[in-house]
Amino acid sequence: MKTLIFVGSPRKTGDTRALLQRVTAQLEGETVLVDAYRDDIHPCIDCRRCREIKGCVFHDDMQQVYDLLPECDNVLIAAPLYFSELPGQLLNVFSRLQCQYSARRFRGEKQEIKPKRGGIILVGGGNGGPENALHTCRDIFRYYMNVKGCFPPVMSLNTDHVPACEDEAALAQCDELAQFLNDTNR
Ligand SMILES: Cc1cc2nc3c(=O)[nH]c(=O)nc-3n(C[C@H](O)[C@H](O)[C@H](O)COP(=O)(O)O)c2cc1C
Repeated sequence: MKTLIFVGSPRKTGDTRALLQRVTAQLEGETVLVDAYRDDIHPCIDCRRCREIKGCVFHDDMQQVYDLLPECDNVLIAAPLYFSELPGQLLNVFSRLQCQYSARRFRGEKQEIKPKRGGIILVGGGNGGPENALHTCRDIFRYYMNVKGCFPPVMSLNTDHVPACEDEAALAQCDELAQFLNDTNR
């Protein structure tokens, strides 16, 4: 079993990572982490070359996502809310999935992407709701990753007062999310 994880927090020991760690500690199989703030992933510049050629003009750490996405079993997005959205750096990473869209729309390529289970972890200080970020995650799951079953989002939305590592409800949801992702019968 393979799980591809997109992390959108710059903080190495922050709230996102506290919940993510709780999940990954229980995950079976292989996990691959895409760190939006540390990996070398250039944002899409809409050069439109992918309308004509396969792949992307940028050759960077995004390659592992292109390689793993068709075959992995699970995808997980874990991020803090920034202005009620996913952090820009993570959106930059997702912008590079545009070449998949181009392959379908402009080059008529049929893509074989294994159906996946999905998970979402969002944290927030408490000022600005998660709806926009959830909508973005679900769009990305649906249109770019072929996620067929998504676990209810795990959220800790009051981290200004209660750090995620002390949010018992969110931690319990992390345990359930790990079980869901491990369930190969889904
Ligand atoms: C630029 C910026 C924008 C933020 N916007 C929001 C927001 O809209 N809603 C919210 O609840 N928290 C917001 N926060 C607070 C973070 O989401 C919160 O502190 C979170 O727990 C940080 O997670 P991390 O430790 O994993 O990075 C923002 C923080 C920053 C730095």
